[in-house]
This record gives sequence, structure tokens and C-alpha cells, in this order.
Amino acid sequence: MRKNVRLGIIGAGMIGNTHLDACRECTGVEVSAVCDVHAGRLRQAAGEYGVPHRFADHRDLLTAGVVDAVSICTPNNTHLPIALAAFRAGKHVLCEKPLALNARQARRMVEAGKKARRILMSAQSARYSDAAKLVKKLADRGRFGDIYYGKCVWLRRAGTPRGWFQDVEQSGGGPLIDLGVHAIDLIWWIMGGPRPVSAYGVTFDHLGRRGQGRGDWGVNYNPGKFSVEDQVVGTVRFHDGRALGVDISWAAHTAEAYSVRLFGTKAGVQIAPEVVIYETEGKTQVDAKPLLGKANYYATEMQHFVNCVLRGGKPISPGAQSVVVMQMLDAIYRSARTGRMVSLNTQ
Ligand SMILES: NC(=O)c1ccc[n+]([C@@H]2O[C@H](COP(=O)([O-])OP(=O)(O)OC[C@H]3O[C@@H](n4cnc5c(N)ncnc54)[C@H](O)[C@@H]3O)[C@@H](O)[C@H]2O)c1
Repeated sequence: MRKNVRLGIIGAGMIGNTHLDACRECTGVEVSAVCDVHAGRLRQAAGEYGVPHRFADHRDLLTAGVVDAVSICTPNNTHLPIALAAFRAGKHVLCEKPLALNARQARRMVEAGKKARRILMSAQSARYSDAAKLVKKLADRGRFGDIYYGKCVWLRRAGTPRGWFQDVEQSGGGPLIDLGVHAIDLIWWIMGGPRPVSAYGVTFDHLGRRGQGRGDWGVNYNPGKFSVEDQVVGTVRFHDGRALGVDISWAAHTAEAYSVRLFGTKAGVQIAPEVVIYETEGKTQVDAKPLLGKANYYATEMQHFVNCVLRGGKPISPGAQSVVVMQMLDAIYRSARTGRMVSLNTQ
């Protein structure tokens, strides 16, 4: 194996530029190629980061012999075809969240990666923050006892991302698949990956169209097309009676809020907006606030991917785990469509 991984970034939009920035903080990687269907974005990214090879079509990048691995940073509906092509070309893949539009597509990506004997790592960036890493370590050591419930509240008042995010065919959905995938993945991972057995969800779409007040995500803005939810409430129950819940919006008449909490039999913990451990010492209730670093979690994630490629390691966020996360999202959406609780068969 080479000393450096030659990386191709496919998609030079918001997160593609974040990955390019992250690579500047990493060792063992050189960004040797960038690809975007949008000429201006391609020029900007390649120029700003001094990337030697640029492509308008990912298939040309994959066959040019200039990369060992790719980072897929394109709209959600393109993750599957690009990943399949990358595996056919023998490349390792870091793929942005959500891994695909649904669990069926995600499974195809995992199978293709296995067949090609290449790494498929999900860019579930929330797992790579200093806060998440500490809480996961403490959870695995039993500090919280049995974590029986996890809850994420992530409410934006006017934070609808633009363009393709609003088109269900390109995105797969609204805030559930966009933000909920982070929350559900994080909570489920810290809980130790229990098997989901049922889900219930309700979605709304009253205010998303007007929610352009914040954020600058997405391209090809088309205000006429809005075919996703703007708010969701969802609950997933696991085989052992434990559960998780999400309460998420892009646009709502509310104060903005972001919190992730886990409830354990020995202690509770809030991961975001800051880590707080809630315990009881005798009759005294104690809140402990660890003093954490603030490492760039995108750089931590990228360094981990590079290390896995160079040393043949197993990713902390393997594609296979995202299949289960996508099953939970699919079930919440199905429940919202049918008005019924949905059973999951994830044996
Ligand atoms: N991990 C995170 O925190 C995080 C944050 C934002 C977005 N994302 C994910 O990253 C992905 C991209 O989101 P974004 O916000 O960067 O979107 P974006 O619209 O800003 O950028 C996407 C880019 O991909 C390009 N593109 C589209 N189709 C392409 C193709 N077939 N080949 C090459 N380029 C193509 C577009 O021209 C655009 O420049 C999505 O899956 C999104 O969910 C993750």
C-alpha cells in the first residue's frame, strides 16, 4: 500500500468543501481529484485546494487511475450509483449520510463493497465529535447502567435547506432523513445497536416552503417543488423493550432547540448542546460537565477513514450499520404514510 491515500472528492458543494478542508488537517491523504457536474463549483474547489485532477463525470474520475478511494458528497439519490461504480473500479468509499434513499439501496451498497473487498464507511459525522466519543466510551463501560431511552429534539424555526433537499426523489425525505439520520444513528450506536422491532411516526408539511430564512444548503433552488415533510415525530422500539424518539423540524413556529439525551438506570447523559452527566450521590443530585476539546469532527472522521484504508481497519461507522438506521427511517416514514405502527423484521 502507498504511504498516502489518493482521494477523490465527488461533489464539490457544501459538504464536499468541508471534506476538502478536513483533509488539510489529516495525514496520509492527498486529494488527487475532485468531481462535480457544476463547472463553477468544480473550478472553485479544484482551484482553492490545488487539486491536480478535475472531472465533470464520476465515471471518468474512477477510471483515470488517480485515486485509491473516494468521498461521495453528492445528493442522496446519487449515492447508490456512484458507490456501485466506485466498487466496480476497486475504490474504497466514504459516503455522506444518509447512506442511500432507503434500506434496500443501502444493502446493495454494502453487498457491493463486500464483493469488491473494499471499505464502505458512512460519514455519520456525529459519531466523531469529542462529546460523542466520550459518551460512547462511558456507556460501554457501564457508567449509565442500562440506557433504556434516547431522545433527540432538533427544531429549526426557518431552516429548510434549498434545492434538491426539498425534492423527495433526490433526497428521500425532509428533516427525518436529513437530520434524523444523525440523531437516530448516534443514539442507536451509543445504546449498543439494539434490534429495532417497531416504529411509529407522524410527519407534517405546513411551513417548509416558507422556511428560507436560514441556511445556504443545496443548489438548483426551485421554490415550486416541495415534496418532503418539514416536521416529524418518530418513535422506535427495540427487541429488549428499550426505545428512542425524535422530534425534528426544518420549519416550525417555535424557538430553535437542539438536544440529544440518553436515559440510563444509573445515570443520564446529555450529549448536545454540551455534555452533562446526571447522577445521584446518596440523596444529592449531581450534574457533571466534562471539559472537552473541540476537535473538528469532520477531520477526525476523515483521518479515521484514511487510517482504515491504509491499515485495513474496520470503520467506527460501517455501511452495514447504516442499513439498520435506514430501516428505522423507512419504518417511521411508512408509519407516517399509513397512520399505523410498523413492525420491522431486522433479524
Ligand atoms: N455530515 C454532515 O454533517 C452533512 C452536512 C451537509 C450535507 N451532508 C450530506 O452531503 C451530501 C451533499 O450535501 P450538500 O449539502 O453538500 O449538497 P450541495 O447541493 O451543496 O452539494 C452537492 C454537490 O454535488 C454536485 N453533484 C450533483 N450530482 C452530481 C453527480 N452525479 N456527480 C458529481 N457531482 C454532482 C452538485 O453540483 C453540488 O455541487 C448529502 O448527502 C447530504 O445529506 C452531510
